Amino acid sequence: KIKACLFDLDGVIVDTAKYHYIAWKELANQMGFDFTLEDNERLKGVSRMTSLDILLSIGNVEKSEEEKLELATKKNENYLSYILKMGPEEILPGTKEFLESLNKEGIKIALGSASKNAMTILDRLELTSYFEAIIDGTKVSKAKPDPEVFLKGAEALNVSPDECVVFEDAEAGIEAAIAGGMKCVGIGSPDILKKANFVVDGLHKMNITMLKSLSS
Ligand code: BG6
Ligand code: MG
Repeated sequence: KIKACLFDLDGVIVDTAKYHYIAWKELANQMGFDFTLEDNERLKGVSRMTSLDILLSIGNVEKSEEEKLELATKKNENYLSYILKMGPEEILPGTKEFLESLNKEGIKIALGSASKNAMTILDRLELTSYFEAIIDGTKVSKAKPDPEVFLKGAEALNVSPDECVVFEDAEAGIEAAIAGGMKCVGIGSPDILKKANFVVDGLHKMNITMLKSLSS
């Protein structure tokens, strides 16, 4: 029986990738190299410091650990300036409706995100109250594809992993769900998210019947 749904944030509930992109691109340009939208695809679902490492490798630039921390902070301040302008109109289609249908069914809801800005983003979107547990980048030590973020979510909700369904747009996130013994719905392209139980375009394509089809 499905008792809980665990949601990734970036790319599932809101499209923050465009703001990450602008902020990383500005950082790259300041260091004298370009960063393309295609490059940005490689950063989806990846932690902030790992994203920076990928960016630096694209520019063929080496930095000390101390410089890296400064660069990551600078990027995040820039990213935050965009995030703080967001409002509920940026919630991806069907999100609220699906969360509300879960509430009606008595299915629990948690967030499982790599982002350290997750609380800020949920507040800006006015979605915080939907989540019984919020596990984000400030609460985990191991990044996806490690299942830690989702296992902590299940624990906080007091359900077992096989009663959980994860919603994820990144391959690493789907691997994390599977590693945690959970079912997984991919959000995006079936060509990329091959390991998910099934893939939909977005939460506007989800409903309770489809969710229940996952119960084993
Ligand atoms: C993930 C995003 O959700 O969070 C990544 O998909 C991002 O692109 C990561 O790098 C960390 O986010 P933040 O907000 O802590 O820099
Ligand atoms: Mg994501």
